[in-house]
Amino acid sequence: MEAHRERPKTELDELKRIAVMEACYQHFDPAAYLQYNYTPPRADFERSDSIVPWKLNCLHRAFTDDDLRGDVLVDVGSGPTLYQVMSGCERFERVVLSDFLEINRRELQNWLHEGKSSLDWTDYFTYVCELEGRSSSAWAEKAARLRSVVSDVLPIDVHQSCPLSPGSLPQCGADCLVSSFCLESVSPDLPSFTRALGHISSLLKKGGHLLLIGALGESFYMGAPGLCIPVVPLDEVQVCASLKASGYELLQLCIYHLPPDMKVGVDDVTGVFFAKAKKA
Ligand SMILES: C[S@@+](CC[C@H](N)C(=O)[O-])C[C@H]1O[C@@H](n2cnc3c(N)ncnc32)[C@H](O)[C@@H]1O
Repeated sequence: MEAHRERPKTELDELKRIAVMEACYQHFDPAAYLQYNYTPPRADFERSDSIVPWKLNCLHRAFTDDDLRGDVLVDVGSGPTLYQVMSGCERFERVVLSDFLEINRRELQNWLHEGKSSLDWTDYFTYVCELEGRSSSAWAEKAARLRSVVSDVLPIDVHQSCPLSPGSLPQCGADCLVSSFCLESVSPDLPSFTRALGHISSLLKKGGHLLLIGALGESFYMGAPGLCIPVVPLDEVQVCASLKASGYELLQLCIYHLPPDMKVGVDDVTGVFFAKAKKA
């Protein structure tokens, strides 16, 4: 008979801490989260120092600078948001969205299949069209393009060594991964963040690109009224070290520092990083 492997105490502690994070997420409210983070002042398209336009510019440049293209783009931990795939959807034949929570996957499905959403994404599509040198009225075409290339909205758990169910992706893996504000918001500590980064890397083919966006110096964010979700407070040195430890070559790192009026009481974030890296 096979002997049971005793799990070391530290591993059990880690599992318990991940379970506590999971329990927090059971009360996540997509509409409140969108309201907190994806409306002005954080999404003010008249201001170049607003967070959302900054992120959209980084994503646009990341795809256009080296003409990134391919078959499959996977967004890890999509949440209820679409902005992170608005540039990439023009360059990949298939886009896979994913989230741990059914309520977030349903929010995305509602937009994809019924055009219903807790947030009107029109200004976002319009802004990205302008970045691409298209007329702002092309937003509806872009929305149609995104709907046509999203093939799946899958359950994912970045704490599993195989985060997606087997067979979800081509055997060689995705050509590109995007992940925004997921890993640090679901990991109890830095080792767990780095492990989760390793897990999602298994979804990416060798030589593929990772576009990782995340919070700096953040210890919590509001996932619903009265719900503070703990976050690993990261600095840019730790982000670079985790990428290196997970087998990535860092190609670009951009940092955004929050202006005082973007601190709106829904988290204690001090900055945002945007990393573009290549799987060695
Ligand atoms: C801070 S939100 C980020 C959402 C979105 N990507 C964005 O840019 O705003 C974190 C997301 O991670 C998801 N999540 C929670 N636990 C997870 C896990 N174990 N694996 C993958 N995603 C998880 C949550 O459901 C939530 O949608």
